[in-house]
Amino acid sequence: MEQYSDFAFIYDELMNEVDYNGWVKYIEDVIKSENTQVQNILELACGTGNLTIPLTKKNYDIAGIDISEEMLSVAREKAEKQGVELVLLQQDIAELDFDVTNLDCVLCACDGFNYVTYDDDLENAFKKTHELLKSGGLFIFDISSHYKLSKILGNNMYGENRDDITYMWQNDFDEEQNLVEMELAFFVKGEDGRYNKFEEVHHQRAYTEEEIIESLQIAGFTDIKSYGDFTFEKPKKDSQRIFFVCKK
Ligand SMILES: C[S@@+](CC[C@H](N)C(=O)[O-])C[C@H]1O[C@@H](n2cnc3c(N)ncnc32)[C@H](O)[C@@H]1O
Repeated sequence: MEQYSDFAFIYDELMNEVDYNGWVKYIEDVIKSENTQVQNILELACGTGNLTIPLTKKNYDIAGIDISEEMLSVAREKAEKQGVELVLLQQDIAELDFDVTNLDCVLCACDGFNYVTYDDDLENAFKKTHELLKSGGLFIFDISSHYKLSKILGNNMYGENRDDITYMWQNDFDEEQNLVEMELAFFVKGEDGRYNKFEEVHHQRAYTEEEIIESLQIAGFTDIKSYGDFTFEKPKKDSQRIFFVCKK
């Protein structure tokens, strides 16, 4: 089963403890810290619009790209309910193709690039991003760290029994390829009270900070900063989320 197909429709419920307001504030703080004027943003792997919608409400002009039509359909429905107009495109970020250039900022939040598992694809995505940005434009993204994917998610198993959703999540970490395979099984209660089961298998690449920086350099980025876990400090050995901030 494709990644983020049926899962798209319960994604927001399962992410309900993520502080997206705090995430938006951090992104705005990063932009301020770079002393660069940002008006337009291309958001990669925008998912259900959890950052796209609040950033649009803050008057940024945003276009969102995601590979999953289902995630985009949830984003569209949420935007419509909130009276927000979004430009959303279904695309694989490994084959990024966007008409508008001279962008102020390209953003990718919450693991988008962990899903790009081949070096060549990552480099292509970074090169295309570099092309799309204006001179002095910002590229801001985060990844789940190598530490998180290898040591915390690793070969572990998780599960939760919520009111209407029960899931099991089993991981297998391949140390040679630095890939974590996540087998997800969901049981979702329908309107008739019966449970429907669906499964997805996700693959995420555990990149080291050095690998990401090298690919960014190959793509042409020179001014590259990395921060750990929503701070403005260098990532620590046990940082779980690493933010990269690059200027073209
Ligand atoms: C963990 S979700 C994050 C979504 C959103 N950025 C957020 O913060 O809620 C990862 C997203 O990456 C998208 N994705 C995975 N691989 C992709 C690819 N190759 N191209 C575009 N989007 C991709 C998925 O469809 C999913 O929406």
